[in-house]
Amino acid sequence: MHLKTFSAIAFAASLLSLHALAQEQPGGQRAVLTIHADKVAAKVSPMLYGLMTEEINRSYDGGLYAEMVQNRTFRSDWSGVLHWYLVENGSANARILIDRQTGPSEALKTSLRLDATNAGEQSPAGILNDGYWGMAVRPNTSYRGSFYAKTDSGTLPVTVRLVDDDSGKAVATTTVANIGSSWAEHAFLLKTGAIPVSQHRHLELLVSRPAVLWLQLVSLFPPTYRDRANGDRVDLMEKMAAMHPTFLRFPGGNYLEGDHIADRFEWKKTIGPMIDRPGHPSPWRYYSTDGMGLLEFLNWCEDLKMQPVLAVYAGYSLAQEHVNPGPDLESYVSDALEEIEYVTGSADTKWGAVRAANGHPKPFSLQYVEIGNEDQFDRSGSYDGRYAQFYRAIKAKYPALELIATTPVKGIRPDVIDDHYYRRAKEFFQDVNHYDKTDRTGPKIFVGEWATREGSPTPNFGAALGDAAWMTGMERNSDIVIMASYAPLLVNINPVATQWESDLIGYDALRSYGSPSYYAQVMFGSYLGDVVVDANLEGGGPKLFCAVTRNTQKKQLYVKLVNALSTPRTVDLQLDGGAAVSGKLVSLSAPDTQTTNTIDQPTRVIPAESALRVAGSTLHHTMPPFSIQVLQIDLR
Ligand code: AHR
Repeated sequence: MHLKTFSAIAFAASLLSLHALAQEQPGGQRAVLTIHADKVAAKVSPMLYGLMTEEINRSYDGGLYAEMVQNRTFRSDWSGVLHWYLVENGSANARILIDRQTGPSEALKTSLRLDATNAGEQSPAGILNDGYWGMAVRPNTSYRGSFYAKTDSGTLPVTVRLVDDDSGKAVATTTVANIGSSWAEHAFLLKTGAIPVSQHRHLELLVSRPAVLWLQLVSLFPPTYRDRANGDRVDLMEKMAAMHPTFLRFPGGNYLEGDHIADRFEWKKTIGPMIDRPGHPSPWRYYSTDGMGLLEFLNWCEDLKMQPVLAVYAGYSLAQEHVNPGPDLESYVSDALEEIEYVTGSADTKWGAVRAANGHPKPFSLQYVEIGNEDQFDRSGSYDGRYAQFYRAIKAKYPALELIATTPVKGIRPDVIDDHYYRRAKEFFQDVNHYDKTDRTGPKIFVGEWATREGSPTPNFGAALGDAAWMTGMERNSDIVIMASYAPLLVNINPVATQWESDLIGYDALRSYGSPSYYAQVMFGSYLGDVVVDANLEGGGPKLFCAVTRNTQKKQLYVKLVNALSTPRTVDLQLDGGAAVSGKLVSLSAPDTQTTNTIDQPTRVIPAESALRVAGSTLHHTMPPFSIQVLQIDLR
């Protein structure tokens, strides 16, 4: 083969200058990457990169689910009504208590009772909510709110206001005029003017005369993604959209299972009006409102054009509780079948009709259902039987569905096995060839949870290097690794909100940021071809990783390179089976492995794009120390 030499001039400021080209590689080795652009080594799974989610680290309540009121259903403990406080202005006098005798629905049987014995126009009394460690309030914005209420004190007006924590001044005020003697829902709108942005704000509900007022389900939403009612935070949705995810695995994770069987994710209690959702305890030690319910997960899929990967509860909960296969398990299997019907059934099926009544007549498409979560931890050994029972029942009704087992099972061949890996970067570096020799005739692989756990609350650049190396291995093997999702995805960085270190995207009430690992995901998800091309990396020393895919339609190669050493590295790319005409370089690098992004410094490590001037078939490419790069090569 005749190789023409061409020069590559990358304009990225992060690239080392050309004198680095002359430097020796560690160990004196030269890296040569030979790419046979026209030789297909494997097909890339069209669903390779996706998202995994569960209620952990305040992922939904205090996170993606945009509700601003924390504890909107007035849960209490020895310390009082959590996140709610009494307000007594001037000479006002009042008290609050939880009334267990009255509530607006079967699901919400209790309420908060405000007894205002002394209150006036200048001295209102009421309650305040401090939000999820603050309430982010922006200028010129409308906030939609509602509450359920009743009173025994005639027709009672309630003033609702957003108040600045520091000045005590209202930044938005409205009045709900007509609270009556029966439980009713009252909606309100709070509009801000030209105020500064701040998350040091709270919500107040006040009365201006002596009265008794019962309240339940106090809710307040900012504008949401695509303006959905009961919707999601815009900044977090945009960050996820930038990852180009193809699927969403939900609702867990341990959150699916619960500590006890009674605490599992019971999908039927998470649909319909909020007033019918009791919420439930999560294994991550806080109570879930279930405002993010089954339909909200599906809407999230629809909004980001992701396939749902639905995990159904399969009869095992974390405190070593399990349901025996056989008759005991039957109701759980039926529940899963009904859940699938809720997702996929037309509006003339029983559960499809419920979904339509909940606001989504069109069925969702569904290809994969996962049976349980991490059932290798079930020490009773019941998973073989439980999986088989679910498998047979689901296949009988939905033969086209592909069923994922959470661990290898005996007696039946699952369509897909879900592998989980939480590791240090070093372990991923050593195991990048993990799937190279996997039996191609066995079940497909879903790497449903994985992450390099270095850095807290979000991973540092060393972790991103481990992640990127591992992704090159999954990508090269994506004929067998059909899906992969990093976990956990989200973390509210308030220390009392976090249960798990090293989460992809961090946020508080107002702001959010992507970790270096997040940007590695963005790069890998954004530049992915439909086939893996035959490529061979030789030399270059340790901790150099690569994967090459091709977008056949666009005639582009995506060369992913990871240099996990502290020295620059030169890779000679030799191309045959296609000639390069132009290119682009996307580069993510950091001066050391500890460098990271934070809520206050969110952009220390972000990808830099530059032109890659290529022509012909050889490219001398120099990578900076500690770098993750994508070379997009446009072929003639
Ligand atoms: O991602 C955090 C937890 O790790 C998941 O809930 C569980 O499936 C795994 O053990």
